[in-house]
Amino acid sequence: MTEPKKLYIKTYGCQMNVYDSERMAEALGGEGYVGTDVPEDADMILLNTCHIREKAAEKVYSELGRLKPLKDARPGLKIGVTGCVAQAEGAEIMRRQPLVDLVVGPQSYHRLPAMDAAVRAGGKALDTEFPQADKFTALDARTRANRAPSAFLTVQEGCDKFCAFCVVPYTRGAEASRPAARVLTEAQALVASGVREITLLGQNVNAYDGHPQGLAGLVHDLAAIEGLARIRYTTSHPNDMDAALIAAHGTEPKLMPYLHLPVQSGSDRILKAMARKHTAEHYLRLIERIRAARPDIMLSGDFIVGFPGETEADFQASLDLIREVGYGMAYSFKYSSRPGTPAAEKPQIDEAVMDDRLARVQELITSQQRAAQAAMVGRTVGVLFEKPGRMPGQLTGKSDYLHAVHALADGARIGQVCPVRITSSGPNSLAGEVVS
Ligand code: SAH
Ligand code: SF4
Ligand code: F3S
Repeated sequence: MTEPKKLYIKTYGCQMNVYDSERMAEALGGEGYVGTDVPEDADMILLNTCHIREKAAEKVYSELGRLKPLKDARPGLKIGVTGCVAQAEGAEIMRRQPLVDLVVGPQSYHRLPAMDAAVRAGGKALDTEFPQADKFTALDARTRANRAPSAFLTVQEGCDKFCAFCVVPYTRGAEASRPAARVLTEAQALVASGVREITLLGQNVNAYDGHPQGLAGLVHDLAAIEGLARIRYTTSHPNDMDAALIAAHGTEPKLMPYLHLPVQSGSDRILKAMARKHTAEHYLRLIERIRAARPDIMLSGDFIVGFPGETEADFQASLDLIREVGYGMAYSFKYSSRPGTPAAEKPQIDEAVMDDRLARVQELITSQQRAAQAAMVGRTVGVLFEKPGRMPGQLTGKSDYLHAVHALADGARIGQVCPVRITSSGPNSLAGEVVS
């Protein structure tokens, strides 16, 4: 028997990359690869990359530089770049860093087995096409591995929105949905291998149209799977939140009360310049409707500070919107100019101004986050235990509202949703006691 080849994948960026890394590992599993956590042992290293901000993209080149000694020591080691930097920069990556053997974009990684054969034969392999056929139909069914209780499942890819700052429409291509029947088959396989919670993924997941009733229809069909306890979805665009999906938050008990709904800015002038195609008022009324359907829903969002042309008054409008919504948590970023996007042509805001605004917005968000966590103390919430905690006898899991929760509990409860009374709130997690 030949020794199995070892595969090390490092994943950057969003949850879709996490999902893609799993699928790539499974695809290469068919070529005799097994996963390793030790890059020094690997026969193949893949960096599954993110292009969203300049820092994310530059990380790839510094990481590749660090891999040089490994490659020098083991010439049989093959190094590949996958994901959104691969899509955006293609062959340029090999020119800038000749140690790279393989470059494959997010829409063509089902071709990895053939590309592996090519690089093993001593060649280089590059594929950044947007093939007509859906890569998922070309990939094998999910393996029957024992899985963690919580899994991602990509149901929609790509983006047609073309926000003026964003590379995703260029790296992931046009919006496309997987047929509901295929999603259901994959979900059933995941549940059969131990999954209790599925997070449906898409760059604009609520634009999902692979089911006649859209994402709400898919959620209802998934909820019928016995053994599946929880459903979540991310990331949503405000303009794609339809009435059926909002209603599902009130009627579907398996749909968890947490929604990530980015708005980016609270200033209509900036929203217009960003080409978001909605106003702050539209977003706030939408939140009202969602809260009417599910009053306890925990909201999260994304904010960009320092978009070209953002004044102090525009920035204040973002702070006002955050105060009005009251987020359970939120992410904020300094605007990063991305080559090829419309906003990259505009005069850029001073870095020090951006730093100052980022610090102020983060202070506000952190205070809301702390308040939302503190408000959980004394309440009893469902917690899906996922793994042992840091302290002996302790398990850690996620509440219905996606808070990390620690509690003393028997290991047999991993994979179960248990009622937990929250007793205290720390900076990034809650502690509680299992009620029954
Ligand atoms: N499809 C999702 C988000 C994808 S990118 C949506 O529409 O909400 C994730 C987040 O990165 C975005 O919500 C935005 O806040 C941030 N982002 C995207 N491009 C950026 C850029 N050029 N500079 C700074 N932040 C950016
Ligand atoms: Fe990017 Fe906008 Fe599409 Fe989200 S909706 S992925 S921010 S272009
Ligand atoms: Fe990054 Fe691509 Fe996701 S750019 S955020 S890895 S879609």
